[in-house]
Amino acid sequence: MEIVKVVIPAAGLGTRFLPYTKTMPKEMLPIIGKPAIHFSVQEAINSGIDHVLFITNRSKELISNYFDSAPDLDSLLEDKNKLHEVKDINHIIKTAHFSYIRQSSPLGLGHAVLMAKPFIGKEYFAVALPDDIIMGKKPALAQLIRIARQEKATVIAVQEVPHDQVSSYGVIRIKKQITPNLFQVDSLIEKPSLKDAPSNLAIIGRYVLSHKIFSSLEEISGYATNELQLTDAIAHMLQQNERVFAYKIEGTRYDVGTPRGWLKATVDLAMQDPLHKEDILQVVQKHTQIYIPTNQPLQKVI
Ligand code: UTP
Repeated sequence: MEIVKVVIPAAGLGTRFLPYTKTMPKEMLPIIGKPAIHFSVQEAINSGIDHVLFITNRSKELISNYFDSAPDLDSLLEDKNKLHEVKDINHIIKTAHFSYIRQSSPLGLGHAVLMAKPFIGKEYFAVALPDDIIMGKKPALAQLIRIARQEKATVIAVQEVPHDQVSSYGVIRIKKQITPNLFQVDSLIEKPSLKDAPSNLAIIGRYVLSHKIFSSLEEISGYATNELQLTDAIAHMLQQNERVFAYKIEGTRYDVGTPRGWLKATVDLAMQDPLHKEDILQVVQKHTQIYIPTNQPLQKVI
């Protein structure tokens, strides 16, 4: 079973980053020198994907410029012996094909995925939300692709979240636990209250979907009153007796779709980079000093 295409929905408005997103796509926010969207594309390529479809809109042109070759810049950098600065992005550009479909208005994640229908055909395909950056030994999409091949079915990524946070996520109800990390899904509950949550396994932004998702999306779009939701379409597939699995992804996830998550990702990744670690520690030290009781040595507080 070949899974070689990924859909990257990037047509959201990014209102949580206003006023920045008045002119700039949130997908282009820098995370230590690379735009946020670079990470999910890199992850897809590291998972064996070779065709990337971005769902964009008229204000996201910077994304297509970033994933396009820039021969003038390359020759300039070559003259200055600095070609290594663009090594990673140039490798991505050489390895994959990039396509773009515009979503004319933000009618929801489900609607964005439905726009990919002509591009997919009858295959299984991956979906990666660029708001989620997942770092780990094994690329998150590769983990899902392995399970989708094994089960010949749709697989969604989940992670355990603290119980008091379940109401911010879509959560799965387990039908059967297959291994410590793999579950067959009974149903999905969108943003449940703590007392109604059937588990603390929250759906995160990685999926491998059967093409049958498109007929479910079309079917539910008839009675969707608000935005068309991807989780509602997966729930519809389950009602049609399609098998859906959830896999507990190994890796650290950063939600860079919120200013708080973006800041955490930036600081955490900078701390893992010898080039930046010392600067971050100095800033933290400066601020922690303010709160240090005078009788305590500094190093104990840090
Ligand atoms: P979000 O629900 O996080 O919405 O979208 P958003 O518009 O990006 O951000 P806020 O809430 O206004 O701050 C989840 C994913 O679905 C995509 C987004 O780009 C993001 O990757 N999306 C959402 C679309 O592509 N189209 C849509 O109509 C809605």
